[in-house]
Amino acid sequence: MDDNLPINPVLRRIAIAVALLLVLGALFAYVGWYRFLRVEPQPDWVSATPEMRFKYGSIGAENDAGIPYWIFYVLPRLFPEKLPGPGGYASLGVAWEAGQELPVGFTKKTIGFPRVANTCAACHTASYRGRIDENPTNVIAGPGHTLNLEAFFRYLIDCAKDPRFNPDILMREIESVTELDLLDRLAYRFLIIPMTKKRLLEREAQFAWIYRKDFPEWGRGRDDAMNLTKYFMIKAPMDDTFGPTDMPSLWNLDKYKPEKGHVMNFAGDSHDARSVIIDSALGVLGAAPKDKADFLGHVRWLHEYLGKLPAPRYPFPIDAQKAQTGKAVFDHACASCHASERTGTRLPLAEVGTDRGRLDSWNKDAAIKANRVVSEMGIERKGLVEETLDGYVIQFLDGIWLRAPYLHNGSVPTLRDLLEIPERRPAFFLRGYDVYDQNRVGFVTEGPQAQRVGTPFDTRLRGNGNQGHLYGTDLSAADKDALVEFMKTL
Ligand code: HEC
Ligand code: HEC
Repeated sequence: MDDNLPINPVLRRIAIAVALLLVLGALFAYVGWYRFLRVEPQPDWVSATPEMRFKYGSIGAENDAGIPYWIFYVLPRLFPEKLPGPGGYASLGVAWEAGQELPVGFTKKTIGFPRVANTCAACHTASYRGRIDENPTNVIAGPGHTLNLEAFFRYLIDCAKDPRFNPDILMREIESVTELDLLDRLAYRFLIIPMTKKRLLEREAQFAWIYRKDFPEWGRGRDDAMNLTKYFMIKAPMDDTFGPTDMPSLWNLDKYKPEKGHVMNFAGDSHDARSVIIDSALGVLGAAPKDKADFLGHVRWLHEYLGKLPAPRYPFPIDAQKAQTGKAVFDHACASCHASERTGTRLPLAEVGTDRGRLDSWNKDAAIKANRVVSEMGIERKGLVEETLDGYVIQFLDGIWLRAPYLHNGSVPTLRDLLEIPERRPAFFLRGYDVYDQNRVGFVTEGPQAQRVGTPFDTRLRGNGNQGHLYGTDLSAADKDALVEFMKTL
C-alpha cells in the first residue's frame, strides 16, 4: 500500500470547507435549538406543594399559547390605557400573591426563552376579604369571581393591533427593564416580537364575538366557555349565541359519580371529571399536546388532586341554633333536589326556568365534532354528551357560601336574594368585588369601593336574566334567614 498517494488539492479544499460547514451548521442548529426549543424544568418551588403546583405549575400551554415573558412584562407599561383600570394586570382581577412575580394561574417556563402561559387556577381560584382592611384570602379551586377574562382576551389583541406594538418600541421598553444578550436581542427583534404580533392578530377573527356591540360584557367572573370551545376547538363558524356563565368551583370532584347518572358542566354537557379536565386543558393549550404522555400525566394529577380537595369551611361565625332551624327548612324545601339522588343530574329548563342563553350556546353537533377532534389527537375519554340538552344541572351545594353570585349565569348576587321572587331580586348590581357580605351571603355589590373594581351586571340584558328557580321564595322571612344561615355550613 502506498501511503503517499497525492491528494488532489482541490478535493482537499472542498473536504475542509464541507467539514467547516458541518461544524457551523451543527453550531447553528445547537444555538437555534438552545435559544428556541430547549425545555427547562420550572424551579423546584413550583411543585413543592400541590397548592403551588395547581397555582403556578405548567400544564404545557407555553408551546402554543405562551407569550414571551418580556413582552408580557412590558405590555402594561406600554399600553396601560387598554386595561380596564390602573394597576397593570391586577386591574383584570387576577389573584396575586405577595412575593410572586406572576398572578395565580400564570405559569413561567423556558422553552428556548422564558414564556408565560396559563393554567386552570387563573379561572378556578377565588379570593375574598372579610373586611376592607384585610389582605385577600385565595381559595384554590374556588370560582374566579373577580377575573375579567373578556378584558384579558381583548387586551392582548388590542395591544397587538396597535401600531406601537413593533420591535423598536417594544425593544426600547424591554431594554429599560432587563439586559438581554446579543442573540436574545436579535431573536426578540427579528423573530419573537413579529411572531407574537402575528399570532395575537390571528386570534382576532376567532374572538370576533367578544367585540360585538350588541352583546353585553361578560363582566368579572364570567366566561362564555362553550362558545370558546366552539370557535377554538372545533373552529365552528360564528353563530348568534351568547351564554357566559360563572366560573364554577372545582373542589371535591369525586362527588360526581357517572354511574349514578351525574353529569358535568352547567348543562350536563360532559360525562365525567376526567373528560372535562382533558377538554379544559386542551382549551388552555390551544392546540394538540406536544407530548401526550406528559399531558395525560398533568390530567391524572389534576383529577386526583381536585377529586379529593375539600370545599372550604365558612370562615366567619355561624349562629348554630339558627342554622339548626334552617336545616329543617332545607330538608323540607331544597333537599329533594340538592341532597338527593337528583343532585348532579339535569333538570329541564321548563321546570327550573332560568336564563336559556347558555343552553343555546352549545349543541349536539358541536359535541360530536369536539369528541372527534380529541379522539383524533389519540386521546381517549368518555367525552361530551352527544345529545340535545335542555336543562341545567341541579348543583351540589358544597362550599356554596363562596360561589356567589348565584345561578349558572351569576345573575343573583346573594343567597338571600335568591330566596326572593325575581321581581324582588336586584335588577342591577356590581360583581367582582371581593369583600364578603355575611348577612346576605355573597359579595358586597354596591358602594364606592365596589364601584372602583366591580363590573356592572344588568339582569335585563341578553344572557343575564335572573328569572326562575323560585324554590323557597314563598317561605317566611324568618325561615329564609335561617335557611341562609344553614347554607353557610355546607
Ligand atoms: C378561562 C377560564 C377557565 C380555565 C383556564 C379553566 N376553566 Fe374550567 N371551567 C370554566 C368555566 C367557565 C366552566 C363552566 C363551563 C360551563 O358549563 O359553561 C368550567 C368548568 C369546569 C369543570 C366542570 C365543573 C362542574 O362542576 O361541572 C371542571 C371540572 C373544570 N372546569 C376543570 C378545569 C381544569 C382542570 C382546568 C385546567 C386544565 C380548567 N378547568 C381551566 C373556566 C375555565
Ligand atoms: C326542583 C329542583 C330544585 C329545588 C327544589 C331547588 N333547587 Fe336549587 N337549583 C336547581 C337547579 C336546576 C339549579 C341550577 C339552575 C341554574 O343555574 O340555572 C339550582 C341552583 C341553585 C343554586 C345556585 C348554585 C350556584 O352555584 O350558583 C342555589 C344556591 C340553590 N339552587 C339553592 C336552593 C335552595 C336554597 C333551595 C330550597 C329553597 C333549592 N335550591 C331548591 C334545582 C332545584
